[in-house]
Amino acid sequence: MRLQNKIGIVTAAGSGMGRAGAVRFAREGASVAVVDLDEAAANTVVDEITKAGGRAIALTGDLRKDAFARDIVRETTRAFGALDFVWNHVGHPGPAAIEGLDWKDYDLAMDLNVRSVLVTTEAALPELRARGGGALLYTASTSGLTGSQFSPVYNIAKFGIVGLVHGLSKRYAREKIRVNAVCPGPTDTPMLRVFVARPDSQLPPGETPESLVQKRGGQVPMGRPARPEEVANAALFLISDEASYITGVALPVDGGATA
Ligand SMILES: NC(=O)c1ccc[n+]([C@@H]2O[C@H](COP(=O)([O-])OP(=O)(O)OC[C@H]3O[C@@H](n4cnc5c(N)ncnc54)[C@H](O)[C@@H]3O)[C@@H](O)[C@H]2O)c1
Repeated sequence: MRLQNKIGIVTAAGSGMGRAGAVRFAREGASVAVVDLDEAAANTVVDEITKAGGRAIALTGDLRKDAFARDIVRETTRAFGALDFVWNHVGHPGPAAIEGLDWKDYDLAMDLNVRSVLVTTEAALPELRARGGGALLYTASTSGLTGSQFSPVYNIAKFGIVGLVHGLSKRYAREKIRVNAVCPGPTDTPMLRVFVARPDSQLPPGETPESLVQKRGGQVPMGRPARPEEVANAALFLISDEASYITGVALPVDGGATA
């Protein structure tokens, strides 16, 4: 097992890639804190893990609240005794346009994509240090590598996460804390539907959110969106000791989109 005796946190783990990661990490031997706003979804993931013989707890709350973003670290160490990794997966699509931007939408996207992740990181670092090292993993996006015309605020946030990964990786390398990101392209989750059909995006005539999801996938060289499990596999590798000499990497998991 690739995460035997490891203890970790996965945020936004009630659905999509986070859920796939939490389930997979537990199957690989990790004890996992499943963090999500949606209590029922988090409990369902924990049930799935425990029924399969794994160890998990649900931590439910809004990561935009600093206290919760911090408390998830304390609750995890209280439940399992230490911390080895955090997958900071939570994020928000933000507004589709800057003309007519409602700044509340800007704040919401930046708070969730950047601030909450920084708060959790700040809380996690002493625990990882106490353990003699560990892994911080972030979810950026191909929009954090090349930018997307549909997501100006999201681009800022995800480029920021890639910058954070580069900086933190150098700062904490000697303390054996590895810092990496996965950069998914279109991935078949509920958030992809939100992306293509945001209130301020213009749905082309005759298109539906579902037809746009298929179209977005079709534009990828591999001709389809990622499955959440495919991103979780990359996350597993970067968190595991198999990636012991890899830090500061923002790994595209995008079917060739950024090639
Ligand atoms: N789906 C894509 O195409 C895609 C592509 C690139 C990057 N991403 C990134 O992946 C992450 C989202 O993952 P997904 O596609 O697996 O999403 P998803 O829609 O399957 O799940 C998102 C989860 O986040 C939870 N959540 C939302 N707001 C929250 C909050 N304030 N506090 C705690 N939990 C909250 C939701 O309840 C939900 O369970 C984001 O960082 C996003 O930017 C997604």
